[in-house]
Amino acid sequence: MNQSQQKTILLGITGGIAAYKICDLARQLVRAGHKVKVVMTAAATQFVGPATFRALTNNPVATELFDDPAAPINHINLAEEADLMLIAPATANVIAKLTHGRADDLLTTTALAFQGRLLIAPAMNTQMYLDPATQANLKTLEQRGVTLIGPATGQLACGDSGPGRMVEADELFDKVAECVHSSTLLAGKKVLISAGPTREYLDPVRYLSNRSSGKMGLALAREALRAGAGVQLVLGPVTEPVPVDPHLTRRDVVSAEDMHACMTEAAPKADLIICTAAVSDYRPSEYSSSKIKKPVQPQAQSGFVAPVTLIAPIVSLTENPDILAGLGQMKVEGKLRSDAVIVGFAAETDNMEASAAEKLERKGADFLVANDVSATDIGFESEQNAVTIFGKTAVGVDVLRRLEKSSKTLIARQILETVYPRG
Ligand code: PMT
Repeated sequence: MNQSQQKTILLGITGGIAAYKICDLARQLVRAGHKVKVVMTAAATQFVGPATFRALTNNPVATELFDDPAAPINHINLAEEADLMLIAPATANVIAKLTHGRADDLLTTTALAFQGRLLIAPAMNTQMYLDPATQANLKTLEQRGVTLIGPATGQLACGDSGPGRMVEADELFDKVAECVHSSTLLAGKKVLISAGPTREYLDPVRYLSNRSSGKMGLALAREALRAGAGVQLVLGPVTEPVPVDPHLTRRDVVSAEDMHACMTEAAPKADLIICTAAVSDYRPSEYSSSKIKKPVQPQAQSGFVAPVTLIAPIVSLTENPDILAGLGQMKVEGKLRSDAVIVGFAAETDNMEASAAEKLERKGADFLVANDVSATDIGFESEQNAVTIFGKTAVGVDVLRRLEKSSKTLIARQILETVYPRG
């Protein structure tokens, strides 16, 4: 391992029987050349003593907020020094505290101050894990970009069997290694991402739009940030939380024309351009500055309603610019960086592979990520996705990778690794 691959890994251990597995993990990480620091909650020390981790890591083990007079703000030092933090086992209680930003001991205070990549490996009784409160907390953490590892399903310490077992040390080690590895993938690169829907207003209150939540694009933005990129996010109207990060610039847009203008302006500086936005292909040809009124049905004086057929207003539409195709054309014309990579998405309901390959060629993208938007558990609005990545090969446009259904975070990471391979 060269020096740039050696990282400081902060292990946060909370009170669960699975704490014993972290001994093996700490040993593996140290052997792999990493500097390992350990923070334990008081409950964790009931399962494994700090002396064990001190011996395994060759570093002091922190358990109290104020236990080191020489370092009165130990949590900040620990948080700043670490490249990656893994909390394992993570109890339901600690997961709830992390979700709500509660910082009442050294571990949760350090986690709150930590700005890097946070991984957690839940471990608890099955009913506690399946409880809606825990599920909602885990979902919130994942949406914020925390990586969840497990839990596994099997026999639990309490005698129950089901989901809630912490994954094994080997799996934790692989996950940490993978994260450390990918954290420099896009170092120094500029990534431009469009996300969310566009809105095409007919009048001040009505618009044409679609169901895009922005989750896929935001997952890509978070993963690009984690991989060291500077990210410019051009975002349609969404309600999803957007990361606040000094390396992220956010441009809010409403219509396809606004998005087109922002993307075209930012593209020449980008190394990687990813168009996940669900752009409206058409907009109303005319905009009414006052609310369009519904025609009033004439009333006969007696109260009798005359049987007249009212003609519903017809909205005529004008085609919007195709942003992705425009960027493809800019590349052909030499208006982008010569090595800029353009990635489009394709939202398909049928004939996915043929349509996606055709879109890649027609729009001049280097890669095209196709997803099935007829499914309810992937694609639009959902937390998960399953995609097929197309690219140019020696035999023409072909499938490069099929990514099975998983969190949009993991899909995003795999997309970045596919379109921007290391070295
Ligand atoms: O936002 P989420 O709820 O997480 O959902 C994610 C998603 C389903 C929106 C996303 O995964 C996705 O599929 N995005 C592409 C949506 C789309 O508009 O697909 P399309 O097949 O109509 O367009 C193909 C490509 O051309 C896309 O990259 C699109 O951004 C681009 N396009 C389309 C029309 C247009 N006028 N300009 C464009 O740039």
